[in-house]
Amino acid sequence: MRTQQLQISHLTVQLMEHPEVWSPLSAVEMLSFLVEHGILKALDQQQVLDFGTGSGIVGIVCGLLGATSVTLSDYSAIAAQVAAANARQNGLTNVMGVQSDRFQQIPPTPYDLVISNPPVQPWLFTNLDQPDNRTQVAAWNEAGADGRLVLDALLTTAMQFLGPGGRLITSSSSRHGHRQTLNLLDTYWPQRWRQIYAAQHAILPDYHGPYIQIWQHLQALDGDLRIYQLDERDRRFAPQTDAAGNPIVITELSLSGPPQPTILRLLPSGDWAAESPQGDRLTILSAQDDRLPGKATSEHWYYEYYLFEAWREG
Ligand SMILES: C[S@@+](CC[C@H](N)C(=O)[O-])C[C@H]1O[C@@H](n2cnc3c(N)ncnc32)[C@H](O)[C@@H]1O
Repeated sequence: MRTQQLQISHLTVQLMEHPEVWSPLSAVEMLSFLVEHGILKALDQQQVLDFGTGSGIVGIVCGLLGATSVTLSDYSAIAAQVAAANARQNGLTNVMGVQSDRFQQIPPTPYDLVISNPPVQPWLFTNLDQPDNRTQVAAWNEAGADGRLVLDALLTTAMQFLGPGGRLITSSSSRHGHRQTLNLLDTYWPQRWRQIYAAQHAILPDYHGPYIQIWQHLQALDGDLRIYQLDERDRRFAPQTDAAGNPIVITELSLSGPPQPTILRLLPSGDWAAESPQGDRLTILSAQDDRLPGKATSEHWYYEYYLFEAWREG
């Protein structure tokens, strides 16, 4: 089996690669930021749960930062095994791999830190009749019809697995539907969460390609831009078609008050009807109206990647 070496700030991690286990991608960006900004540091005396561990990279970095114990959990039994083996390969001893669909089999230890880089892809390659028997990495990385299954479990349930003062650190993406993420943070962690990072990335056609249409379909339903293009004023918008094949543009417009999710429909006159995602007509805009997004500056589509920290009262 091939071994890869990754550098996370001052830490070097060796990982055995397995064809059925997710190979780190965004985890390097996530962990480098957390370590370099001191959000992950000296974890002595801390019990850590790495949720959706894949290769183990996130939990291993926590172990190298001194965590007392690291639980590496994944729905995929192979990933849980590979992650634990990788952790030992990196000199960690108090580690445990646990196969678990979300929190179902997670030991109820009160953790000091639950940390995750959850999946975001909606179901496409998963055989829904046998979701426990996936072999393709891409299928293991799918999380429900809207891609939110694992992130929602974290936001709604991680608190119950934290000891007093314990923290949840998770990534999320506009591809998850950001408004719902913020709603759940406000509901389950009121006044006890902060966004610590945001970065825009280009959608990679080779990698995200099969999912683009599903994200477009989802954003036509709720107006929450998951993937978008940019105009010369950096305004975000998604030119696509609705379910009936008619051209629409999904964006945010300030019509009266703060920017709000808006779906623009091209009228036979060449004007645009601005509608709320619920289908209410807001106004009609002429094709020259400056509030309409301009031409895309490039062919690229983008998404935003976020990191959040939330905590339980001490
Ligand atoms: C984006 S990968 C992240 C892997 C690793 N933490 C990293 O950052 O490289 C998401 C992981 O979540 C796992 N996963 C998917 N659905 C899950 C579920 N329902 N419960 C637990 N883990 C799940 C996948 O098997 C995959 O290893």
